[in-house]
Amino acid sequence: MKWLKSEIKQRQHLLPAFFYGLRKYVLVILVCLFMAGMLTTFSTDTVRVAAQKKNSCAECHSKLEGRLGQPSKLFENDIHNSRGLSCNDCHGGDPTKDDKAAAKSPYSGYLGTPGPTEIASFCGKCHSDASVMKKFNPSLRVDQVQEYYTSVHGTRLRAGDKKVATCISCHGNHGIRKSSDTQSTVYPKNVAETCAKCHSDGDYMKEYGIPHDQYEKYKASVHFNALNEKNDLSAPTCNDCHGNHGAVPPGITSVANVCGQCHSRQADLFRKSVHKDVFDRMQIGECLRCHNNHAILTPTDDMLGIEKGSVCITCHSAGKGFQAAKEMRSSLAAIKRRVSEAEELLEQAERAGMEVSHPKFELEDAIDSLTQARVSVHSVSVEELNKATAPGLAIANKSFEAGLAAFGELNFRRKGLAVSLVFIFFLAALIFLKIKQIERPAKEAGNDGSPDS
Ligand code: HEC
Ligand code: HEC
Ligand code: HEC
Ligand code: HEC
Ligand code: HEC
Ligand code: HEC
Ligand code: HEC
Ligand code: HEC
Ligand code: HEC
Repeated sequence: MKWLKSEIKQRQHLLPAFFYGLRKYVLVILVCLFMAGMLTTFSTDTVRVAAQKKNSCAECHSKLEGRLGQPSKLFENDIHNSRGLSCNDCHGGDPTKDDKAAAKSPYSGYLGTPGPTEIASFCGKCHSDASVMKKFNPSLRVDQVQEYYTSVHGTRLRAGDKKVATCISCHGNHGIRKSSDTQSTVYPKNVAETCAKCHSDGDYMKEYGIPHDQYEKYKASVHFNALNEKNDLSAPTCNDCHGNHGAVPPGITSVANVCGQCHSRQADLFRKSVHKDVFDRMQIGECLRCHNNHAILTPTDDMLGIEKGSVCITCHSAGKGFQAAKEMRSSLAAIKRRVSEAEELLEQAERAGMEVSHPKFELEDAIDSLTQARVSVHSVSVEELNKATAPGLAIANKSFEAGLAAFGELNFRRKGLAVSLVFIFFLAALIFLKIKQIERPAKEAGNDGSPDS
């Protein structure tokens, strides 16, 4: 600016002419400012500042009714709002202009309302751009749009189906929250209801010819119960099995992988079992054939064996598989029976006042072993199952023996007590007789010394 001052000094006598000359500079400065303004409109950093300063969009829309006013009200709790983003960051436009036409002039980059087919790229403008997202939250994934287009939703949308879910069907609009927020539409406990809006609506889904009972069945499942009643956030809801953005039904041959995310031991055993190949060849849904997909219930031992309720006999009516089912069930039954017998005996011994805490403690290991054995059912190998039950059976036997021993000791003590009681009575009787004996001579002596009448 020094040059400007000296120039002014030199040309003070030429002031009117100077002002005329300065017009050029002013013009250049104004053009520069305008360009900088245009540039900052596209830079999220500076938009944050601008949004805090002036937001004609929200100001005007908050005074409007219905669908035009709603966005401003909902936006108060929106994650984008709390990160300093605003209406124009999604919709474009110039939030510094109070006049509607100026705020939405063609030069302001105003986009209007996106239609269903435009939404993914509308949100993807930021969410697919790592350089934008890392300024806010470097740990947030930036593959949602990419994944979405691999899903049944995304592929059908590309093919022109506008009834499928887009970003806003699952996340809502203008009231979007972090997925960890308990009020978010995609918070684990709320996901099922979000999907059910469409998937449980028979009329809406009619044209696709797929079932619309997933939510209803899921609600009856052990998973729903664990998540909603026991508050176990590790239990799965729709997106844990189907993916958040890549929602597809798991292929028949990859179900074990889906369930195996959490039930890795059962999945490992299944993959190594004779069933893996045959099930895949026969297009039988791995875990599903025995457990269902949405209505998964708590399994019982009755699912195994050759009696009613067994899943094995739905395919095996004779041969090795049938024989194996029978033997596996009886192997499980043997350890189960021994464990409960031991439990009962130790319980009785304890009530009788015997010290059995050690064998009771050891019996816990047998119960663990029974649990392990139930897992190894998935190998469908009698040998493997017997390997799992053997240590438990040995412990249960040992605990049972300990129970018997406790009763043996109890008997021994009772006998000992009886013997000592007899002995004590005998002693007491002796003492009694002795006392009598001592008292008698004293009485006789007293009678002798009585005064004459
Ligand atoms: C002075 C009031 C006013 C301002 C400022 C204003 N709007 Fe609007 N906006 C309206 C009205 C009224 C409508 C209804 C459609 C119409 O009349 O053009 C509307 C419609 C919309 C729509 C729906 C499009 C449609 O045609 O249905 C969007 C999106 C929108 N405005 C976003 C914005 C954004 C973003 C800004 C700020 C850059 C903004 N508005 C600024 C009044 C305003
Ligand atoms: C995260 C991006 C995002 C932000 C931020 C956002 N909007 Fe929207 N807005 C959308 C999308 C997407 C739609 C299309 C909704 C649809 O199709 O149902 C939309 C639709 C609208 C509509 C049309 C509603 C209708 O039912 O026709 C209005 C009006 C609107 N927005 C105003 C605003 C205003 C005002 C703000 C700021 C307070 C704002 N939006 C902030 C994404 C956004
Ligand atoms: C079918 C429903 C569904 C659709 C469609 C969907 N989302 Fe999601 N989205 C989810 C669920 C469920 C989560 C929660 C994941 C979790 O709990 O970890 C999520 C999480 C997110 C997250 C948090 C980070 C992450 O990846 O976990 C972002 C960001 C996001 N979605 C953006 C989008 C965008 C952008 C689109 C559109 C391309 C979209 N979503 C479409 C269901 C959906
Ligand atoms: C202008 C950029 C921008 C646009 C456009 C945008 N978002 Fe976001 N979004 C963000 C930022 C920034 C965050 C906050 C990330 C953070 O700090 O955790 C965010 C957060 C989210 C979250 C929460 C993620 C989480 O942590 O669980 C969801 C869900 C989300 N956006 C969905 C959408 C959807 C749906 C659209 C389109 C309707 C959209 N966003 C459009 C920038 C944008
Ligand atoms: C806006 C409505 C809507 C919402 C919300 C929605 N979906 Fe969908 N979904 C559809 C439609 C429509 C189809 C296409 C049906 C088809 O092609 O078989 C579909 C297809 C699917 C499919 C493929 C089914 C098949 O066998 O073809 C899966 C899996 C799926 N959705 C899971 C989900 C999950 C999980 C959620 C929630 C996180 C969800 N959807 C939310 C409408 C929706
Ligand atoms: C425990 C994992 C799991 C959970 C939780 C789950 N699904 Fe599924 N879902 C599956 C499997 C596995 C299949 C594939 C079934 C097949 O191929 O026979 C499937 C199939 C589907 C299909 C295709 C049509 C059908 O019924 O076969 C849709 C749609 C679907 N699920 C939606 C949902 C919705 C909505 C939810 C939440 C209410 C949900 N799923 C919860 C595992 C799950
Ligand atoms: C995201 C993790 C997760 C996924 C995926 C998952 N589960 Fe589960 N599963 C759990 C949790 C947690 C429980 C509840 C354990 C409890 O409270 O007893 C459970 C319980 C079960 C039970 C009852 C166990 C019992 O002892 O009562 C069965 C059977 C089951 N799941 C089968 C499956 C099948 C089959 C699949 C795949 C279609 C699957 N699970 C997918 C986490 C998962
Ligand atoms: C051939 C039928 C069959 C298949 C296939 C099968 N299971 Fe099982 N599953 C059973 C039986 C039977 C039980 C009950 C064992 C018991 O309680 O005696 C069971 C029990 C379970 C349990 C309860 C805990 C336990 O291990 O006792 C879980 C969890 C489980 N299965 C998960 C899975 C998963 C995951 C898959 C797929 C990898 C799968 N199952 C495949 C028959 C099957
Ligand atoms: C969906 C049908 C189906 C169910 C359910 C099923 N299996 Fe199988 N299993 C087969 C088929 C098919 C084969 C291979 C052909 C054969 O040998 O029978 C097989 C093979 C076997 C084999 C190996 C037989 C051999 O020849 O070496 C055993 C063992 C077995 N199954 C045990 C079981 C047990 C135990 C259950 C119940 C927990 C069960 N299966 C449930 C279909 C099934």
